Amino acid sequence: MAKITCPSCGYEIDTPGIVTVCPECGADLRGVMEEVGHQREEMMATIARDDSVTTHEFIVRTRGLTKIYVMGEVEVPALRGVDLDVRRGEYLSIMGPSGSGKSTLFNMVGGLDKPTDGTCFIEEVDMAQLDAFELAWLRCRKIGYIFQTFNLIPVMTALENVTLPMIFAGMGTDEMMERGRTLLDLVGLGDRLHHKPYELSGGQQQRVAVARALANAPAIILADEPTGNLDLQTGKEIIDLLKELNRESGVTVISATHDLKMIDVSDRIVHIRDGEVERIEQRADLELEIGTLGSEHVTD
Ligand SMILES: Nc1ncnc2c1ncn2[C@@H]1O[C@H](COP(=O)(O)OP(=O)(O)OP(=O)(O)O)[C@@H](O)[C@H]1O
Ligand SMILES: [Mg+2]
Repeated sequence: MAKITCPSCGYEIDTPGIVTVCPECGADLRGVMEEVGHQREEMMATIARDDSVTTHEFIVRTRGLTKIYVMGEVEVPALRGVDLDVRRGEYLSIMGPSGSGKSTLFNMVGGLDKPTDGTCFIEEVDMAQLDAFELAWLRCRKIGYIFQTFNLIPVMTALENVTLPMIFAGMGTDEMMERGRTLLDLVGLGDRLHHKPYELSGGQQQRVAVARALANAPAIILADEPTGNLDLQTGKEIIDLLKELNRESGVTVISATHDLKMIDVSDRIVHIRDGEVERIEQRADLELEIGTLGSEHVTD
């Protein structure tokens, strides 16, 4: 989302796309649009950063990840030995029917819950070896979380929600306020800083959640059904925003989804079923399949 001001008549336009002509006076806006595009790219590059001293190819690896929930006498196996390697800078979608274990996998990778068995490495660090302080540090600095139900704090404004994780990271007030404004501007909510969640639409609330996930310049964004509560168009805008962030800033995005629109932007799609990885599709293979289908159609 970008705000364009016509240099001839001063007309202001909020646009998620490209506008070449001012709807008010017909002036040529290509130059203004290009300038705004450059500024946005520069901003994106500083928003999330991978400040690791190591450059392991895989930012996340799981080996034999198993989770069995125990409910009284009953054991519910939610993950049954998941081996998954996620490349640095990758956009990975996890798809699978309801109850297949997507959120459980997220909770393990995000350090929000502990596996029953198996290992999860973040940059080759075994999360099980971290003490409570180290785990809290990792969650706060390395990972940004986005949930289906936004999970904003209702009594706080958009700006307060976005700056909260910065308080935990020990950022100074001035820097925090400036970064909070920049992030909200980036997600198209520069004019909604002081709105509380109930004063925002669902899509706007999820934008605040995206900005909050970026608060401490994470290396990984974990998004669990980020478009699950949004209409088609708003969902598409959130997906495009995540993809833009992934492309411009190199942040690794791992997203659980039922949303087929996600396939278009994913590098790989991991299908899970009954707590196991069923198959993994590469973006390149999908494109190849579409290409092959196309050529078969032509020769028919
Ligand atoms: N806290 C819990 N206690 C007991 N069982 C649980 C718990 N959380 C999840 N489960 C069970 O584990 C399995 C996997 O659940 P999970 O929430 O990971 O699925 P999901 O793929 O995210 O589904 P959805 O698409 O509906 O969000 C399900 O059978 C669920 O009932
Ligand atoms: Mg889930």
